Amino acid sequence: MANTAKLDIDGKVLELPILEGTEGERAIDFRNLRAKTGYITYDESYANTGSCQSKVTFIDGEKGILRYRGIPIEELAEGSTFVQTAYLVIFGHLPTEAERVEFSGLLTKYQMIHEDMKFHFEGFPSSAHPMAILSAMINAAGCFIPELTKDYQPEVFEQQAARLLSQVRTLAAYAYRKSRGLPSIYPKRKYTYTENFLHMMFSEPDEDYALDPAIVDALDLIFLLHADHEQNCSTATVRMVASSRANLFASASAGVCALWGPLHGGANQAVIEMLKEIRADKDDGTKFLDKVKNRGAGAKLMGFGHRVYKNYDPRARIIKRRSDELLAKLGISDPLLDIAKTLEEAALNDPYFIERRLYPNVDFYSGIIMQAIGIPLEMFTVIFSIGRMPGWIANYKEVMEDPDSRIYRPRQVYQGPTLNHYVPLFER
Ligand code: SDX
Repeated sequence: MANTAKLDIDGKVLELPILEGTEGERAIDFRNLRAKTGYITYDESYANTGSCQSKVTFIDGEKGILRYRGIPIEELAEGSTFVQTAYLVIFGHLPTEAERVEFSGLLTKYQMIHEDMKFHFEGFPSSAHPMAILSAMINAAGCFIPELTKDYQPEVFEQQAARLLSQVRTLAAYAYRKSRGLPSIYPKRKYTYTENFLHMMFSEPDEDYALDPAIVDALDLIFLLHADHEQNCSTATVRMVASSRANLFASASAGVCALWGPLHGGANQAVIEMLKEIRADKDDGTKFLDKVKNRGAGAKLMGFGHRVYKNYDPRARIIKRRSDELLAKLGISDPLLDIAKTLEEAALNDPYFIERRLYPNVDFYSGIIMQAIGIPLEMFTVIFSIGRMPGWIANYKEVMEDPDSRIYRPRQVYQGPTLNHYVPLFER
């Protein structure tokens, strides 16, 4: 295959280099286009645009392949834990036992937040959405780390990464407890990462939450499956903010805001709301799918479709199987799971969805597991944020350690008024 692309503009032929990735992806390198032709490219929402070269995650959307640092998500789901997978995503290799112990030790060291942070929590109304609290509190937590105000220093990165990864679950649990008017529950050293999160969410001052290994494993898997996903909206946001050399906590806080949207991480909450609406309408899904196909009030089949996957999202396949297993273990029969399966079956055989290559994505079934665990609906996207934190941290690290990194500054095509003049108020 050629290693340049020819572009004929106004009779002048420009040869552009072709960039090839390790998995054979090919990109036309437009970095000199404007300097050589005065033209820019135009790609609304960047659907065809590579914003960076990254070594963290590989996705083949046509084949439904997802790998973290080359390791298939199916193998990690089977054999790894969230913390080991977070280490892999952030540092590029699975930890040795010594590395695992050292990193877990840092997560324990930093699990508490500064006591003064409590005053910030007091300021939120109990109705505040936990994603708003989480984003604000990540930045607030950064205020207790003086070196964050200095430029990036690789030698302290691991401490900062561990601190953010550890405290995101403490902040999330405190946000939940605050919204319910419950006392904050401090983390305990004896618990693993995910056990501690469940402890801080559901224990009481006078009685620890009874940890069910099936529930701990299911939530740990949910975190693991969300750990990274190449240049999705929130990760691209983290890289955008990092490119101005803002600090890790500020960049992650921006990532939380981007993830909150219902077209992105907010979809897991929207799926359950959709399934509840269908159930309340005593609809077997047929009526709802007709509304979606007729574009009724912008209705979408939430949890379906994906910018990159034009095949079944491999994470959705894993979560669907584990939903069945967990509900069976807990002796729960969730009518929403039955509705979800009926919807999936109908949509996968419906020309509207087949023509548009719309399949279930990670959000379609994740809410079923979270509901079975007892995670409240408004915390679903917070759970996604905790899971995605390793990916945000890894992408932040790539930006900061790339010697050629430049500030993200897209161009635009101006469609506003041409030259205009000021008119004094009394003449308007
Ligand atoms: C996540 O990017 C990532 O990697 C994200 C993520 C991650 O791990 O970070 O995987 C997590 O965000 C998963 C996606 C969660 N969002 C949802 O489930 C919301 C519902 N899905 C859609 O809003 C949509 O599919 C998106 C936002 C996910 C993708 O949007 P695109 O790529 O812009 O697709 P599109 O809107 O251009 O759709 C193409 C066509 C359109 O129809 P036509 O105009 O061509 O006739 O498909 C239709 C759309 O109307 N369509 C849907 C649909 N999704 C797309 N129709 C009904 N229901 C849907 N869910």
